[in-house]
Amino acid sequence: MARLASVVWFIVAGAGLSLRADPPPAGDLALQARAILRKYCADCHDTHPRRIGELSVRTRAGLERAGRPFLVPSSPSTSQIVHLIEDGSMPPGQRPQPSPDERRILRDWIAVGAPAYPATFDELYVRRAILADIEKRPAEQRPTGRYLSLHNLVRDDDPTFTLEERRTALRRAISQLSKATGDVLEPIDGAATIFRLELAPTGWDLRPFQRREVVDQKERLTPSSVNLYDLILIEYPFGRLDPSEPTFARLIETFLRPAGQLVPILYLRGDWLTDVFLGTRASADITRALELPQPSIRNGSPTPLPDDPLTTGARILPLDGIDASDHDSGEGGFGVLFDVWNAETRATARRFQGGNYLLFFLRPTRDTFVQLVWRNADGTCSVPNLGAHSFLGANTETILAGASGKGYRLKQNLTGRERLIVYAAESSLPPTEHLKTKMLDERVVHRFYPLPGEKPMGEVNPDRVIRKSVEIEITQPR
Ligand code: HEC
Repeated sequence: MARLASVVWFIVAGAGLSLRADPPPAGDLALQARAILRKYCADCHDTHPRRIGELSVRTRAGLERAGRPFLVPSSPSTSQIVHLIEDGSMPPGQRPQPSPDERRILRDWIAVGAPAYPATFDELYVRRAILADIEKRPAEQRPTGRYLSLHNLVRDDDPTFTLEERRTALRRAISQLSKATGDVLEPIDGAATIFRLELAPTGWDLRPFQRREVVDQKERLTPSSVNLYDLILIEYPFGRLDPSEPTFARLIETFLRPAGQLVPILYLRGDWLTDVFLGTRASADITRALELPQPSIRNGSPTPLPDDPLTTGARILPLDGIDASDHDSGEGGFGVLFDVWNAETRATARRFQGGNYLLFFLRPTRDTFVQLVWRNADGTCSVPNLGAHSFLGANTETILAGASGKGYRLKQNLTGRERLIVYAAESSLPPTEHLKTKMLDERVVHRFYPLPGEKPMGEVNPDRVIRKSVEIEITQPR
């Protein structure tokens, strides 16, 4: 009996040891220490007016006071907050005390150097961290770094919270989407919520496109600077531009302008990359260009624009995204009816046969500038020249029938799904950029978001651009 009891005891003790053997990574220690200090100390040691004495637990900086050893990085045994908690004097009186696990987290956090944490994991925190990182780098390296963040997932008041699974998922997504071998994510903040990666090891600096222009009725192709990372940016729904943010001008000068991205997005949310982007058609484009195994495509249906209530600034919309859903601003009653007709029946149609003629029906509620982009079944794109019809009158029905007047003719031997996209706005739209490539599907993009000082092409507020699309299916002629 006694023997059995000791065996049982041994197993239990062993299990306990294995739980203790793995302290959380340093970033998670910062997140947990932050939650513990908020939970037990912030009632009295917050910022004004809830601040007693000199200590503030809001930020790690608030724990560092010259000449007062509240916190001594790497030295839990000489840190006053540890002493005061362990001898029971803080928090004072009958208040709930930190558990043994929580005390150990605080000691472990200090032991690894007490990595910093902020008061809030908000947009400004990310921007400041990125700016600080950029300014540490030599000017010639600045254009080649890119940033990803998981800050939005942090839970403020959970002392057991860990971000490590999400970091792992992000590393895995990047290894699926890129040529990178090994961990290319370099944390740039103490809590390891924001990361830098270099473009070159991922292969995302590949520039597969040529820009097609028609000069004197002749096609001219010039190399385009659009790279694979830009193809990710095109789909991203959480970008924002906020000139009122204190970091705005510096970030443009030190990073966004030299980086020359197609869309001036500062960083990507890592949870979007892992949960939404991976498995879209655009993600398959990236792996195809890099000759990597294809991820399984989740489904072809467009990704709805997520809610992201901004307090300030303007949202950068994924208007050129191939996976993003349409954008129907509808503001102030502005809208456009768009339909695809069969030229023979002059009625709505979605199924056609090779060689058929199409008509486009349009009726805007206001005077409207329009563009048409046609994504063909073979991966090419066309931008029909609408001539005088690129401006349509309010409440007037327009039927576009192409140069011949008979309609737009479908190729004889091409079958599959095609997408017709209309862009409409009350002021002139930026010109389309037609990007050709043999490697991938072609793209048509716009510079909707010029940086300050760049010549705006078109005068439109992108928020007021309507994008509507119709998918048609083409089968073999009988
Ligand atoms: C109910 C309010 C209350 C809570 C909760 C509380 N404290 Fe205090 N703390 C005080 C008071 C009161 C003092 C004494 C301030 C003074 O004498 O200037 C103090 C002083 C301190 C000091 C010395 C600060 C100084 O400026 O001299 C430290 C360090 C401290 N507390 C740490 C903590 C920590 C760590 C926690 C959470 C685990 C905590 N306290 C929770 C009320 C609180």
